[in-house]
Amino acid sequence: MPNTCLTRPLLACLTALLLLLGAALPAWADFSLPPLPYAVDALEPAIDATTMTIHHDRHHGAYVANLNAQIKANPKLANLSLEALQGQVSAFPMAVRNNGGGHWNHSQFWTVMAAAGQGGSASPELLNAINRSFGSMEAMQSAFNQAAAGRFGSGWAWLILKPDGSLAITSTPNQDNPLMDLPGIERGLPLLGLDVWEHAYYLNYQNRRPDYIKAWWPLLNWKEVNRRYADAG
Ligand SMILES: [Fe+2]
Repeated sequence: MPNTCLTRPLLACLTALLLLLGAALPAWADFSLPPLPYAVDALEPAIDATTMTIHHDRHHGAYVANLNAQIKANPKLANLSLEALQGQVSAFPMAVRNNGGGHWNHSQFWTVMAAAGQGGSASPELLNAINRSFGSMEAMQSAFNQAAAGRFGSGWAWLILKPDGSLAITSTPNQDNPLMDLPGIERGLPLLGLDVWEHAYYLNYQNRRPDYIKAWWPLLNWKEVNRRYADAG
C-alpha cells in the first residue's frame, strides 16, 4: 500500500505535511501589520477616523514593509521575534532600528487605547506601584504629560517598569523605545507608550500637542496596562 496520508498515523501525516509546507516557504518569516482592535472611528472625537486610518494603514504599514525589506540584507532578523529584536537592535543598521521600533511601538500603542469608557481603571496592584513610585496617580500623569509635551520633535512618552520593580516616566526620540539596547535609553518594560509624532494628532490638533495629550487620557485602556504589569510580575 502506498505511504500516503491515507495509510499513515494522523500525527505522522500532519508532521510530514508541515515539513513539506515549511520547505516551500521562504527562509524568513515576514513581520505583519496587526489589525486595529477596534473600529477606526472608535476613538472619536479625541482621535478622528481619518487620522486613525492614515496612522495605522500608512504609517505603521510602512514601518512593517520597510522592516521586511531589511530581512534579506540582515538574515538574523529571520530568527528574532519583534520584541527580541528591540533588545539587540544596536547590532543592526539604522533602518532596522527605525522600522523595527516603529512596528513594535505602534503595535503596543493600538492596544493601550480603547473607546472612552471602555478601558476600565488601574488595578489595585498597579495603583499601589504608581503610588509608591510617584506619590499619586495625578503626579504620575503630570510627569507623563511633561515628558510627552516636552519631547522635542518626534518621539514617544512611556510609563515603564524598571528592573528594580519601580515605575518611571521616560521619553524616547523618533521610533526608539525603552527595550532598546542603545546609549541614552532609560531601559525598562513599557507598560504604556504615547505616540507624540505629529502624524498622530496633526489633523485635529495642529501644533496643540498638549490638547492631544489631555484628550488621550480618557482613551487609555487600563485593562491592557494592568495585564502588562501583572504579566511582568
Ligand atoms: Fe505613529
